[in-house]
Amino acid sequence: MKDIAIFGAGGFGRETALMIKQINQVKPQWNLLGFFDDGIQKEVDGLPVLGNSFSLNSWQKEIHIAVAVANPGVRKKMVSSIVNPNVIYPVLIHPLCQTGDESNTFGRGTILTSGCILTTNVHLGEFVIVNLLTTIGHDVTIGDYSAIMPNCSLSGFDHIGSECMIGAGARLLQNLTVNNGANVGAGAVVTKNVASNATVVGVPAVSV
Ligand SMILES: CC(C)(COP(=O)(O)OP(=O)(O)OC[C@H]1O[C@@H](n2cnc3c(N)ncnc32)[C@H](O)[C@@H]1OP(=O)(O)O)[C@@H](O)C(=O)NCCC(=O)NCCS
Repeated sequence: MKDIAIFGAGGFGRETALMIKQINQVKPQWNLLGFFDDGIQKEVDGLPVLGNSFSLNSWQKEIHIAVAVANPGVRKKMVSSIVNPNVIYPVLIHPLCQTGDESNTFGRGTILTSGCILTTNVHLGEFVIVNLLTTIGHDVTIGDYSAIMPNCSLSGFDHIGSECMIGAGARLLQNLTVNNGANVGAGAVVTKNVASNATVVGVPAVSV
């Protein structure tokens, strides 16, 4: 059993704790120690908060860390605040996620949650979150720190840049590029490329 803790004790962090317990139910592999958090100090869902980022940087043993905050910019800052060489960032995959074939690649720290379906030639960067029931078609790429919220569908040859947020239930037609730092609103249907740092909403999605 390998030691693991979650950095971020908010909503997605708590869901990640559940996911780790569900992984262990299928094949015991993680010794879940608790959370680190820079704001929350008390116990969360029966698990201890082991300290803040300073405590994490002072951890003396090898420890696996899931950085589990959905906001891409916040997640990136959290990762850059960790300088402890004892920290390892595993790829976490829920047992009910279909990860597709051997051509797919996932960068360190990426979290694939329950009910997601990936097909072929899918490449995910580092610290990507793919949330519940999302489908990712052939030849899709997703850049570092991007977060795909629940129930999205990304179609073939879509390219999502780094630090993008794709809101819950969004649909992207095929062959589209969502450039770095862009946000796609919940429920949007994206029919055109999205510019860097733009926010698009609606059906069809337009900039706000
Ligand atoms: C698109 C989004 C990022 C915009 O957030 P924001 O920059 O704070 O924008 P605002 O809330 O100020 O909204 C700006 C305008 O867009 C509209 N809008 C916001 N989100 C929208 C959406 N998903 N669909 C349609 N219109 C939307 C607002 O009504 C507002 O319109 P108005 O100017 O006419 O009043 C956000 O609303 C969103 O959809 N986030 C996804 C959340 C999500 O998926 N959560 C899942 C958690 S698991």
